[in-house]
Amino acid sequence: MPEETPYEKYIHGDKILSFQKKEDELVSDGERDFQGVQQESEFIWNRIIPMIRRAETRMQTGDIPEAVTMLEQAAILWSGLTTKTEELLWRLWPGDFLKIRKVIGAGGSTADSPRYREAEVLARSLYASYEQVLEKRRVAMKQLFTGDSEESDLRLLTKAMMLYDYRVQELNLAHLYLVFAEIGDKTVGLKGGTTDYLIKRYGQYLFPKLWEEINEIYREP
Ligand code: HEM
Repeated sequence: MPEETPYEKYIHGDKILSFQKKEDELVSDGERDFQGVQQESEFIWNRIIPMIRRAETRMQTGDIPEAVTMLEQAAILWSGLTTKTEELLWRLWPGDFLKIRKVIGAGGSTADSPRYREAEVLARSLYASYEQVLEKRRVAMKQLFTGDSEESDLRLLTKAMMLYDYRVQELNLAHLYLVFAEIGDKTVGLKGGTTDYLIKRYGQYLFPKLWEEINEIYREP
């Protein structure tokens, strides 16, 4: 066994990888990738959470550029998850996933990830802070959309909120197609959800009022 380098010590390489199944324990081709993507997702949500928290505090203190940066950086992390989900779609065959599913066992679902849930709750609560920013600056969202306000930092913030929402929905769509590709659109998930459940869950923007405002602009006078 080679001596542990400072790099290995710092990242706890051996420890992290010890949480992955060994080659001879894998029940099917692609299981390493499936387990790996699930584990990576937890790392990524763990990085997204502090960014969203910081975006919120920066909105509260009026540091809009930093709030924008945090939202954009967190959005990029969701894109990474989308890419990994798409990779799994190409990598995993339904028959291989069937074997994996048996070893996961009933009830085992990412739906129970506390980090995924926290990221969602925190993001939804961002909207109140966004509204407060507009109130404080006496700008209506409509003015930002129509270009009647030249508050460029607020326009950037509004776009960053939309981008963040979009990147989350993009993962939701990729996940939905992964589900179609692995278990079909009728099979019940390990926690009891079908794709109908997922479609219902995903039928909600994170910031519905933001998107609704666009309808307002196009409503008949
Ligand atoms: C590879 C095959 C996969 C299948 C067949 C699958 C299937 C499902 C199903 C059926 C649900 C609904 C709840 C349930 O009954 O479990 C669900 C929820 C969920 N899955 Fe997956 N999934 C897969 C991979 C992934 C991956 C790689 C991720 C990580 C990005 C992920 C993230 C989630 C999340 C976050 C939820 C909760 C959704 C919500 O309630 O908002 N899944 N999955």
